[in-house]
Amino acid sequence: MKSSLFCYTIEMSVRANNNVNSPKMRFNIIIYKNLKQRMLEWRDYIMRRKVIAGNWKMNMLPDETIKYIDDLAKLVDKTQNEVILCVPFTDLFYALLTAQNTNIKIGAQNMHFEEKGAYTGEVSAKMLKSINVEYVIIGHSERRQYFNETDESVNKKIKSAFANGLKPIVCVGETLEQREAGETTEVITKQTELALEGLTQEQVENTIIAYEPIWAIGTGKTATSEDANNSIKDIRKKIAEIYGQNVADSVIIQYGGSVKSKNAKELFTMSDIDGGLVGGASLEPEEFSKIVNFDKEA
Ligand code: PGA
Repeated sequence: MKSSLFCYTIEMSVRANNNVNSPKMRFNIIIYKNLKQRMLEWRDYIMRRKVIAGNWKMNMLPDETIKYIDDLAKLVDKTQNEVILCVPFTDLFYALLTAQNTNIKIGAQNMHFEEKGAYTGEVSAKMLKSINVEYVIIGHSERRQYFNETDESVNKKIKSAFANGLKPIVCVGETLEQREAGETTEVITKQTELALEGLTQEQVENTIIAYEPIWAIGTGKTATSEDANNSIKDIRKKIAEIYGQNVADSVIIQYGGSVKSKNAKELFTMSDIDGGLVGGASLEPEEFSKIVNFDKEA
């Protein structure tokens, strides 16, 4: 807030003391407006923490989990960034025990929206919370694609996650066809709107959104940092329209899709990208630690 007040004050004093229609003044005002925009972006960049989450998908056994977390813990113990590992259900307990007394937080990759009942094979938010799981990925494109997850079930799951004290990491993203048809903004803002429908402002503020263009997941193709940043700005704009600018400014929005140590810095230093959801490159502690430590000197 302070920086925008500062710019506003400059702008007003310039206008008060000069003829605003002179070419020189118009030029000055354009410069000040640019400066103001830069300062607002810089403020947001400073205000929001960076959150780097690994999504192991259907990989790793308990013994591998223990070794991985022991190794990773030593490599990321100095970071100020938030480090999360979203592991398979069968690894959760081992991951939680091994990550105790480290700065690594543990999440699941899915959950059912009901608390309990006749849903063979499912795991509820309440069950995850009972063993101290902190995060849960909801609506990953692989779940939407292979397991019929819909915007409606995503919304129910987010509500159930909050009701049970879990923090959701909600995935949105467009297909290649949608991108080529120029529908990216419409698709991702609609998915965001439906996912967050009926949540309180506070819940929205505590939701992590992962913008993951589907064509970039596991393909080695990454969105350019500008494209990813612009899509994330679109999502933030939609949140501002519905929940207000302050909420939009504080929501963590990650980028996901072929993030690796080589491109992490370029992506995560963009104004609106608050870290990443990392699949393949999170399977090896050394590589994942370099992504977490993207802001440290090599
Ligand atoms: P990727 O996966 O990093 O392997 O592209 C990202 C994800 O699916 O979350």
